[in-house]
Amino acid sequence: MSAIAHRSQLDATAALGLRLPDGREAFLVRVHGRISAFENRCPHQGIGLDFQPDVFLEPGGELIQCSMHGALFLPESGECVFGPCQGRHLVPVAIRIDDDGQIHLAE
Ligand code: FES
Repeated sequence: MSAIAHRSQLDATAALGLRLPDGREAFLVRVHGRISAFENRCPHQGIGLDFQPDVFLEPGGELIQCSMHGALFLPESGECVFGPCQGRHLVPVAIRIDDDGQIHLAE
């Protein structure tokens, strides 16, 4: 299966919005060197988290943030730890990363 992104695309912003081959809106984030992927849909209102393109992290770069409401999510699990959807989870997207940095869907 072809790559959905390359690790180097996260160098500038540590976050990247993209559309998956099946049409789902999704995003990648890199926090402490670990890349994770989720559907771009808040469990609370079902809307995208990014108000500006490729901005998915709070300014500290540690947590995923909904730019509309300031809700915060753990990058490891997608769990909302602050905000209107606290305790609910973003839907993860399973990925694998080749040795050459190509990012693929794992399923
Ligand atoms: S849409 Fe749910 S916190 Fe913003």
